[in-house]
Order: sequence, then C-alpha cells, then structure tokens
Amino acid sequence: MSPTPITAPFPAARLRRLRRTPALRAMVTETTLTPANLIWPIFVTEIAGGEGEIPSMPGVERLTLDGAKRAAETAMRLGIPAICIFPHSDPDLKTESCERAWDPENIGNRAIRAIKQVAPELAVMTDIALDPYNANGHDGLVRDGVILNDETVEALGRMALVQAEAGADILGPSDMMDGRIGALRGRLEESGHKDVAILSYAAKFASGFYGPFRDAVGASGRLVGDKKTYQVNPANREEAMRCVARDLSEGADMVMVKPGMPYLDICRMVKDQFAAPTFAYQVSGEYAMIEGAIRNGWLAREVVVESLLAFRRAGCDGILTYYAPQVAERLA
Ligand code: PBG
Repeated sequence: MSPTPITAPFPAARLRRLRRTPALRAMVTETTLTPANLIWPIFVTEIAGGEGEIPSMPGVERLTLDGAKRAAETAMRLGIPAICIFPHSDPDLKTESCERAWDPENIGNRAIRAIKQVAPELAVMTDIALDPYNANGHDGLVRDGVILNDETVEALGRMALVQAEAGADILGPSDMMDGRIGALRGRLEESGHKDVAILSYAAKFASGFYGPFRDAVGASGRLVGDKKTYQVNPANREEAMRCVARDLSEGADMVMVKPGMPYLDICRMVKDQFAAPTFAYQVSGEYAMIEGAIRNGWLAREVVVESLLAFRRAGCDGILTYYAPQVAERLA
C-alpha cells in the first residue's frame, strides 16, 4: 500500500526547496544505482577472426576466451557481481538436433571455466536456449515447422547439467518453453547441483528489440519464421504475470522481464505482486537506440544512467545491460 502524500498548499509547500542544492537533493534521493545492481552480458566467439565490434551495437565487442577472462577481471575490479555469457558459435557446427548445446567443450562452457579460473568469486550466468547451436535459429527443436515443447525441455535439461558442471552459478533459461523451470530444477537437485540458481527469463516478449543481438550471435540470417509461438505477445500483461507466477512456483530463484524500458509497467507489477528478486534486461535494441543517438550527438551520455535508474525506480533489483562496465566506471 503506498501512502498518500500530504502536501500543504502553496506557498507553505514549495517543492523546489529540496531541489535547491546538490546536498539537499542528495538527502531526498529515493532510488540508487550501484555496480552491484548490474549484470554484464558478454559475447564470446569460437570463430577465428570472429572477435571485434558488432556493427549494430557500437562499443560492444565479441570477445575471445582471453577477452572473456579480461572482462571478468574488469567486472571484479568495478564491483559488478555477475557476468552473463552468450556464445557466438561456429555456423558449420549448427544442426537441427542442436547436440552441441550440451557439449562440455562448446564455447559457452569453455568460457565458464575460463572465467572461473581468473575470477572464481564472480557470479557466472549462462543462457539456456538452443538458438546458438540450432541450424534454424530457434530456441527450441523444430519438426515440420513446429517448435516442440517437451523434447526441447529434455534437451535444455542436458544443457543445464553441463553448464552446472562447468561451474555456472546462475542458469538463465531464455527459451520460454512450458515446464522448463520445474524440469531444470529437478535435474539440478537430483544431480547434486542443488545450489545452482535459476534466473528465469519469465516474462520474455516477442520483441523487435532483439535484432542487434541476433547479429551479435550470428543468428540473424538463420531464423526461419518468428518466435511468436513461444515468446509473449507485447500486448499482454496478464499473460506475462501468469508466466512469472508459474516460473516462481516451479522453483525459479529470480525472475526477469525482457525487454526492459518498453516494459517498465511489467517490472513494477512483477515486483509488487511477487516480491521476488526481479531483474530486467536492457536488450540489444535498447542499447543500439541509446548508443546510436549518443554517437550522433542527439543525446548526451547522461541518458545511460537515467535509463538504468528507471529500472530501479520501477522495482528491479538489477539490470542486465551492455553498459555495465561503462556505468560501473562512471559510478566509481
Ligand atoms: C535467445 C536470446 C535472445 C536474447 C537473449 N537470449 C534473443 C531472442 O530471443 O531471439 C536477446 C538479448 C538482447 O537482445 O540483447 N535465447
């Protein structure tokens, strides 16, 4: 229940009194943003020459395994608690059956181990979905044009165990299949990985804002059709709430809303309704919009912190953002 603010009539109330100086403003600041609120998504490539800047995400680079280790050290130095790994995998090894997704030697799992070597205290988060290893770019197994739910969940379970084995602290199922959280939790419990956490991409919308990400992981040309049969319709908030409720009831430790800024209403509802650890993903398209405008001289770089503060104000405990190192540096 939010209290009703009582305000005297003007001139007894002059709300500008508390905005007059930096000290007064600091005293009444309601929302904070610190490096501890940030999760840094990185792209790790296994392709020779695959590293370097991503054209639709200026300022963001695909990293080699050595680059990933350096990023982990940077995160530690800046007080960023977690890094999230996305694989840029060899296109020649993508198949319809996606078996590389649960290969302990795939680039994602190698990156987990490499990071744990140099920064054992950094929380390592993964992505659980088949798209980096799928010949047709979907997050699930496809038969005759249909995304198969239960067969995919089985495959995701194998993927999860291998990631846990490699040392992941937090698994991030981003696939939006039904029943995957319960299935993954069960597999983790029975295999002795009972302390591996799940941050569910619970309210993940079928969004156009993922475009640059698909360039970054080399999935853009591949996707046959769209993801509307598994990701949530952007028009639906009740459905999004049901997804979050379901994932929490199946054992998700934390939940995520994605994309972020166009869905702040969902963030606020999720936090108020469930009082669970709530995260938002400021996705690649949001990054591209902001960074594109800044680089064109249309916006000042201050908008970056403002954009992240908005998530905190909307109730998020933290934000996955490509701006993590830049902002952590700025806040230091
Ligand atoms: C796929 C996945 C996507 C993102 C994270 N995991 C893209 C998609 O669903 O097509 C998007 C992240 C971003 O846009 O920054 N499992």
